Amino acid sequence: MQELRNKYISAIADAADEATLEDVRLAAVGKKGEVSLKMRELGKMNPEERQIAGPALNALKNEINSALVARKVSLADAALEDRLRNEWLDVTLPSRRRGQGSIHPVSQVTEEVTAIFADMGFAVAEGPQVDSDWYNFDALNIPDHHPARAEMDTFYMYRSESDNQPPHVLRTHTSPVQLRSMEKMGAPLRIICPGGVYRADYDQTHTPMFHQVEGLAVDKDISMANLKWALEEFVKAFFEVDEVELRFRASHFPFTEPSAEVDIRCSWAGGQLKVGEGDDWLEILGSGMVHPKVLKAGGIDPNEWQGFAFGMGIDRIAMLKYGIPDLRAFFDSDLRWLHHYGFGSLDQPSLQGGLSR
Ligand code: DAH
Repeated sequence: MQELRNKYISAIADAADEATLEDVRLAAVGKKGEVSLKMRELGKMNPEERQIAGPALNALKNEINSALVARKVSLADAALEDRLRNEWLDVTLPSRRRGQGSIHPVSQVTEEVTAIFADMGFAVAEGPQVDSDWYNFDALNIPDHHPARAEMDTFYMYRSESDNQPPHVLRTHTSPVQLRSMEKMGAPLRIICPGGVYRADYDQTHTPMFHQVEGLAVDKDISMANLKWALEEFVKAFFEVDEVELRFRASHFPFTEPSAEVDIRCSWAGGQLKVGEGDDWLEILGSGMVHPKVLKAGGIDPNEWQGFAFGMGIDRIAMLKYGIPDLRAFFDSDLRWLHHYGFGSLDQPSLQGGLSR
């Protein structure tokens, strides 16, 4: 028994890894292990022998089991030590300057616009880019055969001949999100809806996919004065100037009444855009008081509530603010362009910390 003990205790101590240790365990106390076989022989012994050999074998089995457990723990500790020694990371190494990527001007400007309107109490709402004819047109007071449908160069989504439903469209503007938000949240309501929109058009200032941001405020006593104030605050904050002058030009949109297009005073002296001074005017958005039919389509009683709305091109104001000449380059994925016009990924635009440092 002493021999068995010496053999296995030293084998356990010598086991250099868990697999070897398991082999030792099986050889000693496994079903067909040496110690187990010896215990089976107890039955053949006479009572006197058994009284001595039984407890001794049990003690041996216990000793071997404890040694196995202890060795297993120390092997695991050693393995961990080993990993910690080999798989280390120098957290004091300086990071790569600006990493590999950058924030696209569209994302940057979307964040900027969101930060400014969030400060005025506007929440962000989103809607689907494939939308029904009803949301994109009818609910916005653009019935079938209305000329505005043709003007928008709409992409219609294919439906099978057997399907008698009207076609879906790639939304031509973010205005349908007005309806979805009214339905979901009711009045009062204050939201902006940024996102991608689609029209079949392609030149220096038009791409088939571009971005808009819609604004909508519905309350009991909203007026054009509120619209004017909100837009002035927005333009000042966005272009980072102290004074701006806005010009509201009477216009027509089916979903607003009255409607206005908004220009900002600017100068193009030396080919450089300066907002807030000069003799030029720059159109930046469409707006107006929400048409009663639109409120009604959104489930809001126009006798009780009224609202203003506006829609603005995100890519367009990005081009203006950051002096980017060609819209098409926005979507070319040219790394040189992205590095030149992109923004650092760690600078979150905020009114306190700066919009576009
Ligand atoms: N949906 C219009 C467009 O894409 C923009 C617009 C104009 C939105 C006036 C509005 C608005 O909410 O009141 O051209």
